[in-house]
Amino acid sequence: VVWDARRPKVGLVNPDIQKDQQKVVHSIDVEDIGEKLSICRCWRSKTFPLCDGVHKVHNRETGDNVGPLRLKRRDV
Ligand code: FES
Repeated sequence: VVWDARRPKVGLVNPDIQKDQQKVVHSIDVEDIGEKLSICRCWRSKTFPLCDGVHKVHNRETGDNVGPLRLKRRDV
């Protein structure tokens, strides 16, 4: 299915990110995570795939309840 910008965005999980791509995929090396990292799951972050906190606005405006995936390094 080819993305058509004329189609309504209602019901889309991804309303805006990399719509010129057939599939959005990101890779992060585990070694580069550092102490912790928050991965966006609302698809509205300006720093996608990283969470920028905009999920709070999305939740407030829509009644949704999405939030990030938090990765943290276990203390060894
Ligand atoms: Fe998308 Fe936080 S901005 S989950």
